[in-house]
Amino acid sequence: MIIKNSPTILTIFGATGDLAAKKIIPSLWHLFRQGRFPDRFSVMGFSRRNLSREEFKKFIRKTLIKRGGAAIKERDFSRFFETFSYHAGTFEDKKSFRILFEKIAGAESSWGVCANKLFYLAVPPSSYEIIFKNLASVKLNLPCGGNLGWSRLLIEKPFGKDSESARKLQSLLSSYFKEEQIYRIDHYLFKEILQGIENFRFSNNLFENAWDNTMIERIDIRLYESIGVEERGSFYDAVGALRDVGQNHLLIMLAVLAMEYPKNKEADSIRQNRAKILETLAPWTTETVRNNTYRAQYRGYENIKGVRPASNTDTYFALKTELRYPRWKGIPIFMEAGKRMAEARKEIVLTLKHPAICHLCEVGPHEPNKIVFRLEPNDEIIIYFWMKKPGFEQTLERRAFSFFLYEKKEKAQYVEEYAKIFNAAMEGNRAFFIAPGEVAALWKFIDPIESAWDKNTVSLAKYKPGTTPRPAILQNTQSVRDKNAETRMSEIGIIGLGKMGANLAIRLSAKGWRVVGMDHFPDTTKKLEKNGIIGAYSIPEFVKKLSTPRVIWLMVPASAPPSSKTSDGQSKATAGRPAGKPVDEIIFGKEGLARILKKGDIIIDGGNSFYKDSVRRGIKLGAKGIHFLDVGVSGGPTSIQLGKFAIMAGGNKKIYEKIKPIFDAMSDTTSGYMGKIGAGHFTKMIHNGIEYGMMQALAEGFSVLKKAPFEFHLKDVASVYNQNSIITSRLTGWLEEGFKKYGEDLKKASGVVAQTGEGEWTVKTAKELGVPAPIIKRSYLFRVRSKKSPSFTGKILSTLRAVFGGHKI
Ligand code: BG6
Repeated sequence: MIIKNSPTILTIFGATGDLAAKKIIPSLWHLFRQGRFPDRFSVMGFSRRNLSREEFKKFIRKTLIKRGGAAIKERDFSRFFETFSYHAGTFEDKKSFRILFEKIAGAESSWGVCANKLFYLAVPPSSYEIIFKNLASVKLNLPCGGNLGWSRLLIEKPFGKDSESARKLQSLLSSYFKEEQIYRIDHYLFKEILQGIENFRFSNNLFENAWDNTMIERIDIRLYESIGVEERGSFYDAVGALRDVGQNHLLIMLAVLAMEYPKNKEADSIRQNRAKILETLAPWTTETVRNNTYRAQYRGYENIKGVRPASNTDTYFALKTELRYPRWKGIPIFMEAGKRMAEARKEIVLTLKHPAICHLCEVGPHEPNKIVFRLEPNDEIIIYFWMKKPGFEQTLERRAFSFFLYEKKEKAQYVEEYAKIFNAAMEGNRAFFIAPGEVAALWKFIDPIESAWDKNTVSLAKYKPGTTPRPAILQNTQSVRDKNAETRMSEIGIIGLGKMGANLAIRLSAKGWRVVGMDHFPDTTKKLEKNGIIGAYSIPEFVKKLSTPRVIWLMVPASAPPSSKTSDGQSKATAGRPAGKPVDEIIFGKEGLARILKKGDIIIDGGNSFYKDSVRRGIKLGAKGIHFLDVGVSGGPTSIQLGKFAIMAGGNKKIYEKIKPIFDAMSDTTSGYMGKIGAGHFTKMIHNGIEYGMMQALAEGFSVLKKAPFEFHLKDVASVYNQNSIITSRLTGWLEEGFKKYGEDLKKASGVVAQTGEGEWTVKTAKELGVPAPIIKRSYLFRVRSKKSPSFTGKILSTLRAVFGGHKI
């Protein structure tokens, strides 16, 4: 240990202030008790207060009793205090610095060496400049030269309050000190567990290779404090939680967790690697700040001394971000920190991805593995994993490898960390201090959030002291199980590759899903193989290519509705091409799915089946242990392609929840669970009934407009109707598009309107239920009768169907 025999003088500016009392003196005591003081060591207290040596001693003893807690033996304390001396003076007074210089020189001459000098600034940043200037006036900023006799500066965060002020501070520092003399403190870098992560990663070969987006699903970094702002009102109110701990501690935790293996043990290569990671934090836009950040203040905060009335300062924040660094890309990173939380907990949690194939997942609940690095309440590392429960059954249970570093009986805030800080500064270990590149990257990330918050882009929520907010942006945390399912569920089989089915298959495949596809027409299947879809050409082959439990989506014609002559049963899926085999045949036919599928497999009918058929199918399949969901989708093929369409599902709720990740992957919208079996197709049927009525009203209105004595341009009328009027809608937009595309006379359009059955089913169902539905009924009858009496109204309807559904015009 080099420092032991290196004569050193520590000068504390602001030695009688709060900061010194809270952090410095107790941690020096700790260092002393650990036998870590250099043999020749002197602590010089520099402060305004005019104290005698005896008064200074009293102050130090009182501080130790208050903060240190442990009984202090007088003999030890006297030995400890022997190293101290006190110098009263103001920072502005050059003379004081001359005296300081003489005192330091006196100690040096008694030791007969040019000693190491460490200057710790326990003062507000506004005093830095004058201190540096006056130190320089007596050349204390300069090292003696050679190996001994260095001069180092220890400074505290905040390093500025934004990028601009940080740059100014940096230029001030560098005009008086060389970079190797500056030690910027983030005491989190001295937390045992954080220092341990480096070893955990780089000294073991167990995890490092998988320390990336192939293995990690999400990262959570939390800093919950049960303490409040207390007596720091005026300081805290000017910074808020994000600047106080987010800009430094949380991001530094991330940097330590995510940095690359340094090319050597030199401080610079470690610091550069941390900075390199921080520089890849995703840049913010107003939109992402709005959607991915959250801020709140605890109730009663405004009554704290020093806090401005109606203060907008955050005492809690949460944010979601990402590292655009190759190995971390795509992993969501959630950070949150707050005062007066329900508990004191500080930790990093890595949630791991599920294995691609997880046969045991069906045996029981199976949350992803987690690695927890916990700093508080105790220093520990926990790895949660799954094991077979001992016994005859194949049951899983969650177990934990827990590594307990040490238990903190009573935490003395900062003490251990600051003792290590002084030790490292004296040893010259700069790796654990912050480099200018890191400071710049940290502010670059924080500035856009703060300035968007200043403009109130994200409103300030309130929370009850003693509670931890659960903002929606962190919600994935609560729905870990859904997320699990999503990771686990990355395979689907689709039968029916018409417009809708093909678009679904392409979308999922592009998202990295394994999609097995089959169509009645082999050519269609073949074509889609080019999009990465795994083609199958018979039902047995299709089933064989899927892993269990299989999830199969049907996008094929429903069986013909009771009396519909025109229906293709499910024309949206098959529009523009001949219909393939209908649902019943695919499920219950000679070579049907029901014969080959196994218990636990799931069939989803995503077409437009009649709800009573779905109920019948569900019951029949249920008897075989095969799950069945009836799902209506609406939005048209283009919306499917874009992943923006409505999904209404019926069937067993647990199964719906289990396969919900499929819906989430298919569409950016929120799918809806409608109720027991049949409810999905029932809602879709009514949706289409309503669609009939709405389209009819639109078509009739425009037919009147056409005949009106004003020579209207129908396209322009549609356009103006679509400018935030009451009837602004997708339908009106599509009509405008139709007029643009086909001309206002709609010459090409057929006056005879096709229909697919759901209007008729709605009418029948309404009658069965005794509910009058004259508008839907007449819209439906209009289409039936249009065969014999085509009209301009019919042309409009055909045009709309062509535009949104890709049907024949
Ligand atoms: C400081 C913040 O940097 O860190 C405090 O200014 C916060 O507000 C403290 O309480 C948390 O540090 P620790 O070591 O108690 O986790």
